[in-house]
Amino acid sequence: MTDTVMTIAIDGPAAAGKGTLSRLIAEAYGFHHLDTGLTYRATAKALLDRGLPLDDEAVAEKVARELELAGLDRDVLSVHAIGEAASKIAVMPAVRRALVEAQQAFAVRKPGTVLDGRDIGTVVCPDAPVKLYVTASPEVRARRRYDEIVAKGQSADYETIFEDVKKRDERDMGRADSPLKPAVDAHLLDTSEMSIEAAFQVARAFIDAALK
Ligand code: C5P
Repeated sequence: MTDTVMTIAIDGPAAAGKGTLSRLIAEAYGFHHLDTGLTYRATAKALLDRGLPLDDEAVAEKVARELELAGLDRDVLSVHAIGEAASKIAVMPAVRRALVEAQQAFAVRKPGTVLDGRDIGTVVCPDAPVKLYVTASPEVRARRRYDEIVAKGQSADYETIFEDVKKRDERDMGRADSPLKPAVDAHLLDTSEMSIEAAFQVARAFIDAALK
């Protein structure tokens, strides 16, 4: 094994398929995976659980700095209200600095890492040798969220989810600090009409080329 750590940066809007794609890549290459959205979600949940405000940057930063990456539980953190709260605290520069430091420490784990989020290729790992920007139309992403919820036996309203997807995009793309956008050297992957398996094959080709 060499000393070089391979980092794969995956960004994109909510429900574009980047989480599933990241997990497949991490599994195929034996790399560590961090869903950085969970770090924002866990910080937001800790604030909500303690009855602390979501609009006090100093308080939110303190909670962000106490976060343990090892304890992030996707099932607990995936609820909609936590996602909304996460995107509110994600506009705070002090919170972002705290979480980005933890993410950068994770990114250098051997033999390699896959990080997915909104600002991995632009801010967290700007030197990553492989950057993917995974996207899909808002309609397709809302439909996927809807199907996921219904598959769990819960009820959902497509129009509400569609409006939420658009609102979340606006907040993530419109914020001043680290807005969601493709890095200039990112490969764009539109999964609107592509299966996750097909997206994985495209990603593999980029990664294998970088590993050579
Ligand atoms: O990806 P996920 O929906 O779990 O992310 C929740 C929220 O956390 C996003 O809407 C976004 O506002 C924020 N986030 C971020 N930067 C990241 C990952 C997530 O700002 N790298």
